Amino acid sequence: MIFKLKKIHLNVFLLICLAPFLIQAQEINSPNKNLVLKFELKENGVPSYQLSYKGKSVIKPSTLGLEIKDAPSFMDGFLITNTEQKSVDESWSPVMGEEKTIRNNYNELVVTLAQAKNNNRYIRIRFRLFNDGLGFRYEFPKQNDLNYFVIKEERTEFQLAGDHKIFWIPGDYDTNEYAYTTSKISEVPSLMKKATIEINSQWPIKELAVQTPSMMKSNDGLYINIHEAALINYPAMYLELDATTYKMRSHLAPDAVGNKGYMQTDAQSPWRTIVVSDKATDILASKLILNLNEPTSYKDISWIKPVKYIGIWWEYFVAGKSTWAFGKENNVKLTDDFTKLTPNGKHGATTQRAKEYIDFASANGFDAILIEGWNIGWEDWINNWKEDVFDYVTAYPDFDVKAVHEYAASKGVKIIMHHETSGSATNYERRLDRAFQFMNDNGYDAVKTGYVGKIIPRGEHHDGQWMVNHYINVAKRAADYKIMIDSHEAVRPTGLNRTFPNWIAQESARGTEFESMGGLNPDHTTILPFTRLMGGPMDFTPGIFQTDLSYYRTGSKQRVNTTLVKQLAYYVTMYSPLQMAADIPGNYERFPDAFQFIKDVAVDWDNSYILEAEPGDYITIARKAKGKEAWFVGGITDENTRTAIIPFDYLPKGKNFIATIYADAKDANWNEKPQSYTVTKVVVTSKTILKQFLAPGGGVAISITEGKDSEMKGLKKI
Ligand code: NOJ
Ligand code: CA
Repeated sequence: MIFKLKKIHLNVFLLICLAPFLIQAQEINSPNKNLVLKFELKENGVPSYQLSYKGKSVIKPSTLGLEIKDAPSFMDGFLITNTEQKSVDESWSPVMGEEKTIRNNYNELVVTLAQAKNNNRYIRIRFRLFNDGLGFRYEFPKQNDLNYFVIKEERTEFQLAGDHKIFWIPGDYDTNEYAYTTSKISEVPSLMKKATIEINSQWPIKELAVQTPSMMKSNDGLYINIHEAALINYPAMYLELDATTYKMRSHLAPDAVGNKGYMQTDAQSPWRTIVVSDKATDILASKLILNLNEPTSYKDISWIKPVKYIGIWWEYFVAGKSTWAFGKENNVKLTDDFTKLTPNGKHGATTQRAKEYIDFASANGFDAILIEGWNIGWEDWINNWKEDVFDYVTAYPDFDVKAVHEYAASKGVKIIMHHETSGSATNYERRLDRAFQFMNDNGYDAVKTGYVGKIIPRGEHHDGQWMVNHYINVAKRAADYKIMIDSHEAVRPTGLNRTFPNWIAQESARGTEFESMGGLNPDHTTILPFTRLMGGPMDFTPGIFQTDLSYYRTGSKQRVNTTLVKQLAYYVTMYSPLQMAADIPGNYERFPDAFQFIKDVAVDWDNSYILEAEPGDYITIARKAKGKEAWFVGGITDENTRTAIIPFDYLPKGKNFIATIYADAKDANWNEKPQSYTVTKVVVTSKTILKQFLAPGGGVAISITEGKDSEMKGLKKI
């Protein structure tokens, strides 16, 4: 049983009102009373809500509603015809996650709103108020006067209380791979042009808008995060900004003809989420988005497992010595005979190379290796908006699928399949069953999918309703074949890994690949957990040890903007049950003592402790490995040096433990001495508090184990 109901209070106060006009305002509190939500109808029957935290305004009165195409809107003329309240306090266990048990505790208010002027057509708005924030959604029940409708625009407002600091990327229908800008809301307009750097398959929104999750901090110290949960059969939401009044407003991704959502009752919108606290650590600890997603209906989940992997991958980005493509030609068709191509001499995914990686994976305890560029089609895979680029079942002549699999199986290693679609979702859907059958036949149990390029159906967007449904269908279909999914360039996650637990990770942000293309800002990874990762695990692909890329290309100014140790810390600060050791194996062999941390670190957890955090500045997290008496700590900083204060009070009391501390050396920094580090073993107890130096662009990683007395002899106790 993965959904365990521990405790439920169902206090249902059914309030059927015979005189609807009497009900004007409704108020509910969060279980701990810190948050107060007020719902009311304004003049002309316009729905409005407001939210406060410990008496401070989070969302000032803001209107709710939707515009409908060629039909009356759901914006005004409403009467409250019914309200219901209930409280829920239960807990459940995710298949994989940061916590083995998650508490779902909220007070709910459901308001039924009818429009007399439209034959009493009605909708419901469901609010769930948790201790860590608010979720609400629109519901469209089945009724005589509401069957099919098309959304012109959702008009949900978020009237913020001031000119908050905001960590943002430009609103874009097709990508989340921008670098973050930190500014005041009022400064967004003047910074938008600079922030809208050129990246593949982008489609910036014309209106002034930012992506969600949107992370903000108010002058009076409130941390506010706006996103959505359970994005199903609906387009993704962006936030339009009014930079003078600090009002945000929903903006949905359009389809090819400009419509925003095709609905048939019963239907509902995704949840709009506002996570709020006066502590930044609470934002990272929040499970509100997962709680608002439905439990999985999968009966058998035994095949869904955490994966630590390496891959024939980073060498395509840095070394310049290998390529995805096999042929010299740059104009091929799927119908061509690929055995007749002229080899370019640099093909990465050869049988021989695969075996070398398998040996390395097996020798170092990795579960799997990702092999990109194994299949025909890479000669001209992007930029042509071409439909049939890949067939997902035909290997290049120098890659022997059967031989690679037999070898991998003999070494206890899995191969991760790679399905780059180059945005052609139609082609992928047509071939999906054959592609998954091929995986089953050849022993693959996980696939990395990719959507680089403009989407086909042409005119659709990565974030539109059509593609949102596509990603979910791929995940569901994959489950039929017991296949796990790691999607790249898909719409950003909204907690659907609860419902579809085989969709184990996503990229959907600027990840390590950009370290080879200009670099990530040193503060990037102190922002990602507050933004992109709010929706779910990220396949960030950490673990780069050779950070100065002139190592590969003499004279290159490119570098990974971190110390080596910060790359270790990511395994803890960037939660994902799928973690890559992204560097080329040879680089791990050069630093065996640091590599030990990657070999040891867990990827699935019983508990997580967010010790310190400030978006844009630093994060320190400790986690307990799933089912094991082993703990791991990761701490990171931005471009500034800092002293992390690391408590160990989550360790069992009255016992000694061995902590192996991977630290930046005193002279380390991200741009000049990234590989200067120390590895020290000490004895710690639950009372230890460590003050740890972090270099500019640096970090700290600690692994903690129960040690035998003999192993602790001679170690310093701190
Ligand atoms: C972009 C992905 O993020 C990257 O990991 C992959 O290697 C390329 N697309 C090719 O599919
Ligand atoms: Ca990408």
